[in-house]
Formats: sequence, structure tokens, C-alpha cells
Amino acid sequence: MSDFLVVANCKQGGNAAYFSKFIDCLQEQAQSMTSVCQVVLLPQMPYLQMVVEKSSGVPIVGVQSVCPAYEYQVTGGVTASMVAEMGAKFVCIGHSERRMHCFENEKIIALQYQQAVLHGLTPILCIGETAKERQEGRTLAVLEEQLSGVFLHEGFDKLPKHDIVVAYEPVWAIGAKQAARVEDVEEAFLFLHRYFAKQMAFERQYFCYGGSVDQDNCQQFYAAQYVSGLLVGRCCLNVERFMEVVAQCSGS
Ligand code: PGA
Repeated sequence: MSDFLVVANCKQGGNAAYFSKFIDCLQEQAQSMTSVCQVVLLPQMPYLQMVVEKSSGVPIVGVQSVCPAYEYQVTGGVTASMVAEMGAKFVCIGHSERRMHCFENEKIIALQYQQAVLHGLTPILCIGETAKERQEGRTLAVLEEQLSGVFLHEGFDKLPKHDIVVAYEPVWAIGAKQAARVEDVEEAFLFLHRYFAKQMAFERQYFCYGGSVDQDNCQQFYAAQYVSGLLVGRCCLNVERFMEVVAQCSGS
């Protein structure tokens, strides 16, 4: 992986024409630049196969979720083994929208994480505090709780050493008018840096900022200490704007 990751989280957006254009533009941009950041595209499941086939490695492809492998069957469930077989390399886990709207709790998130790693997928583990938690001065405590919920869960210690992407996404900055300011998130990234310095379970770790990133504000995060990636939501659905983010995060 390159030193800087830019993850495009398409959520419920995109269609065949969009994905085709996204891949063409990125490949064209990659050819015209000496160094390009590592782009990870997370399409919705129906487009996974098409995106993997067309991309042939640029961008790297992942998915937005997988089901935790329970002892019982769940209609509509898509497993980590299925998406790995189809060529996905990453999976987003613990996104605040899924914690909130799909009722994915600590146990579900921990099981999804383990399934991902066991099937060779790199987890993009999303963590972040709400506005209320921040006002109460609990930001770092919440981040620690969310990380421990995964790393102290039964079974985690049996996983092989693996890469991890941690996406710090303050909930109040997701889908908002403005991204957080760098000074609002510095403390969280310093915390991540120190926390992971003590962990032995990982090969490589990336710390992404997420929450209303676009072409006008990405530069400050790219330049920020301990930030090694971005998780981009709405902005990635506009291919031209997203390619500007990629260019600005590629050292050009
Ligand atoms: P946003 O979404 O960039 O639209 O705020 C970020 C995310 O995917 O969480």
C-alpha cells in the first residue's frame, strides 16, 4: 500500500455509468502522475463484480459491510468469504450510520471484524464520538471503548497479524455542512498514534479522517500529523471533485 489512503465510500450512491467513469478517470490520473495515493473504492454490493473486473487493481476495491457469521442463517446476508471470493480487499466496519440505523452493536462489529480478517480482508474500522459525547469531554474515552470493543472481544487474540485502517469519523462531522477543523481532531489522532504504538496485533496501520471531506478541505488533513488517509463520502459521488482530492493527496 502507498503511504496515503483515500477511501471512497459510495454509501447508497453510484450506478454502472458512475463506476465506469470513476475507474477510467482514476486510471488516467494515475498514468499522468509520478506518485498517486492509494485509492480504495467501496461500491454497493450489486456493483462489486463489475468494479473488480474493470479496475484490475486501480482502484483497490472493498465493500461497505459484511454480515457477522452467526450460527444461524440470515436472509440477505453477504459474508466476508463471498466478497473475498469476488475480489474485495477491504471492508468498512462500525460505520456510525450502521451503528445507528442498522443497530450494529459492539458484538456484531467485533464479529464482522473477525470474519473480515479470517477471510483476508483489511478492516476499515470506523470510530467516532457524537456531538454530545464531545461536549461532555468524552471523545477519547469513546474512541477507546470502541476500539476495545473489537480488540478485547473473545476470538480477537486468535487472529493472525493483519493490516488495519482506522477511520476516525466524528459523528457530528459526517454528512455535515463542514468538516471538522484539524485542531478539533489533532488530539484524537495523537491518541490513535499512541494507542497503536502499544498494540502487537497489526502489521500496518492507517489512520484516516472522515466527515465531510472534499476538494476544498482535504489538504489540511493530508498535511496533518498522524493522519495517513481520508474517508470520503458524498464528495466521491462527483468524480471530478473526487479526482481533485486524489491529486491533492498524491503529493502533486
Ligand atoms: P461524508 O461521509 O463525507 O458525506 O460526510 C463520510 C462517511 O462516509 O462517513
